[in-house]
Amino acid sequence: MIDTQTLTPDATGIGHAAQLLKDGALVAFPTETVYGLGADARNGKAVAAIFEAKGRPSFNPLIVHVASIEEAKSLVELPFVLERLARVFWPGPLTLVAPVKEGSGLSELVSAGLPTVAVRVPNHPLAKSLLEAFGGPVAAPSANVSGSISPTTVRHVLDGLAGQITAVVDGGRCSVGLESTIIGARGDQAVLLRLGGLPPEVIEAAAGGQLGKPEAGKIEAPGQLLSHYAPSTSLRLNAEYPDDEEVYLAFGNGKDVANSLDLSPSRDMREAAANLFAHLHDLDELAKTNGLRGISAAPVPEIGLGLAINDRLKRAATPR
Ligand code: TXA
Ligand code: MG
Repeated sequence: MIDTQTLTPDATGIGHAAQLLKDGALVAFPTETVYGLGADARNGKAVAAIFEAKGRPSFNPLIVHVASIEEAKSLVELPFVLERLARVFWPGPLTLVAPVKEGSGLSELVSAGLPTVAVRVPNHPLAKSLLEAFGGPVAAPSANVSGSISPTTVRHVLDGLAGQITAVVDGGRCSVGLESTIIGARGDQAVLLRLGGLPPEVIEAAAGGQLGKPEAGKIEAPGQLLSHYAPSTSLRLNAEYPDDEEVYLAFGNGKDVANSLDLSPSRDMREAAANLFAHLHDLDELAKTNGLRGISAAPVPEIGLGLAINDRLKRAATPR
């Protein structure tokens, strides 16, 4: 258990919060929609700690918060229609989903291995100052325990997460009180992925056309799709050793195993979660390059983040 600090909504509190984020700690902060549970989006272990604190049994992709459109454009390739929406509605309760740029530096855990990332520029004075003081992208889901409702006051945040997170910035009550509206793009059409604080009609007026509907099953929780990230080669689970035709995803048992990558040599769950998607991508490539059949994965204990790791591995092993 951590002794969760409540930070004051002034320069001292914000400076402290920014330093904690740089140190890889979890800090909840107010946005105009709901409180977010923030971590440095480039630090895989810090991002893994978000899932641990929320008690999520699976990895949902997270929203990356930045201070400006320019910063967002350094992370994602914004299609024309989304850039138009960004110019009208940012800062504000709108999240845009777009393809991640090569070299963005974002942890792959942020997007749960998807090729797209959700970004948003919030419009709350404290969120803005925090993002500026921190000077980088902050991954933040709503600051509630998985399965409970989104927090709009410090009290809500502490009721769920006291003892699990390092600090919360006290910003009073959130003005919008609903999560951001999430919009993606299909070609040059904007697509509604989640209803939220910004009404669809208002977005349609700015987009200059009707919003598209997402493909069936993709609304709300793309991370829940069964084979949402599957390697192109096969994946065999609970393998104590790889066979000759496989590359190996080890968990503390990768030493001296050929063609293997270890999720965490010291069996640290946060490190394992931080490495999961990048290792799966790299092993997939390695198998293809070496003409091998596929990947086998070591057993991971069903405790803490191990639940989410195994959930994702099971999905990845499900044939498309
Ligand atoms: O207002 C908000 O959006 C708040 C504040 C803190 O910014 N955040 C929030 O985050 O509601 P969260 O994690 O509770 O919801 C994020 C949603 C999830 O439903 C997730 O599936 C979706 O964003 N999402 C994230 N990345 C995505 C992606 N690459 N493609 C599609 N949906 C994505
Ligand atoms: Mg949420």
